[in-house]
Amino acid sequence: MDRLDLDTVVKVETEAYEFPWSRRTFEDCVAATYECWIGVLVGREKPDEVVGHGILNVSADEAHLLNVCVKKQSQGCGFGRDIVLYLVDRAKTKRAKTMFLEVRPSNVIARELYDSVGFRQIGIRKGYYPTHGGREDGLVLALPLDGEKN
Ligand SMILES: CC(C)(COP(=O)(O)OP(=O)(O)OC[C@H]1O[C@@H](n2cnc3c(N)ncnc32)[C@H](O)[C@@H]1OP(=O)(O)O)[C@@H](O)C(=O)NCCC(=O)NCCS
Repeated sequence: MDRLDLDTVVKVETEAYEFPWSRRTFEDCVAATYECWIGVLVGREKPDEVVGHGILNVSADEAHLLNVCVKKQSQGCGFGRDIVLYLVDRAKTKRAKTMFLEVRPSNVIARELYDSVGFRQIGIRKGYYPTHGGREDGLVLALPLDGEKN
């Protein structure tokens, strides 16, 4: 992902997610040394298409999955898993030992995805997320990466 992708990224995010990140937040991630990726479906007869994005921050031996999002019309096709697995691979490449993320308890699809990849709950951040009516807890999930890549 670079700055030229941000119009597309913000559109995908806003259409797919009830509580989207702002353009400014994406700009900050791109400007920082975060791992910012777009998922591109390479077309055979059609033009290439951006189907989603993912953002990872690796610091020392910890990786934090900050954002994963798949275009509304492309959900349920495996792209979300592809993006998460790619970011897990990036975290291993950068020698992280554990990968963390937060997820809303109400986000059943994301929780299923993370569970299927091997993330397990290690804590709760009380009132971590805004909702339309107040606040929602954040479930803290972790995936050990130790020894899985040389
Ligand atoms: C969460 C999200 C990234 C999943 O992407 P996706 O491409 O639709 O997911 P995939 O097709 O790769 O499915 C991966 C797994 O998610 C779960 N899943 C996907 N769609 C589901 C549905 N409709 N109901 C329940 N579980 C579902 C399943 O476990 C699925 O694995 P399976 O196909 O082996 O059953 C996508 O729904 C999204 O962008 N949501 C909005 C943004 C968001 O919530 N991001 C996460 C913030 S923490």
